[in-house]
Amino acid sequence: MRKFMLLLALVLLPWSLAQVRTFDQVKASGQIRIGTEGAFPPFNYFDAKNQLTGFEIDLGNALAQKLGLKPVWITQAFDTLLIQLNQGRFDFVIASHGITEERAKAVDFTNPHYCTGGVIVSKRGGPKTAKELQGKVVGVQIGTTYMEAAQKIPGVKQVRTYQKDPDALQDLLAGRLDAWITDRFVAKEAIKERKLENTLTLGELVFQEKVAMAVAKGNKSVVDALNQALADLMRDGTYAQISKKWFGEDVRCR
Ligand code: ARG
Repeated sequence: MRKFMLLLALVLLPWSLAQVRTFDQVKASGQIRIGTEGAFPPFNYFDAKNQLTGFEIDLGNALAQKLGLKPVWITQAFDTLLIQLNQGRFDFVIASHGITEERAKAVDFTNPHYCTGGVIVSKRGGPKTAKELQGKVVGVQIGTTYMEAAQKIPGVKQVRTYQKDPDALQDLLAGRLDAWITDRFVAKEAIKERKLENTLTLGELVFQEKVAMAVAKGNKSVVDALNQALADLMRDGTYAQISKKWFGEDVRCR
């Protein structure tokens, strides 16, 4: 029993030691710890070679470089990211979080790093509008703004939640869902990447959102540093270049 407790303490120690760092502390360490999910292509995902990649990874690396820091990436399940952020596990999170009132009570957001919307995806001939979702089964990733939106659409038969967004796509393709609500760029990329042009159709945008990075509640020095670095990248062409690479267009909010 003693041995077990000791082991437990040793395992938990690094966690309890983690604490929210000010930008000065981050700077002094030379490294900035960035939290993301790694299952939301093309924003943050693992490629065929198991490398973490995507628009937000490129952007996070560019931000770190601007700040003169070495990025250290940590991937965790989407629905645990903001909790771990407040526990000091990362200095910031970049995982396509839409700015919502609810989340803004728990964490602080930077200026948005892109603007987008949630879209209805279905098989050809399936529902394309919120109205057509009446009596239908809709799949969404758990803890997302798509989940919230789906739960508010009147008459939906069932909202099924998935740990990972691509799992909802799998179920849509397998015929277990009538529709999937996800990010419009995610949907576009999935259709292109998996050559589903003749299988899936994009319906209407259910809502629009501003997507931003998050820091622990009250961590003003890190928010300020990130906002400054993001503004610099947006001004010097780096942001435009990264955005073109992933989307063929500039996705900044205007
Ligand atoms: N934009 C949506 C939201 O704010 C989805 C984010 C999902 N991100 C992810 N890495 N899976 O909830």
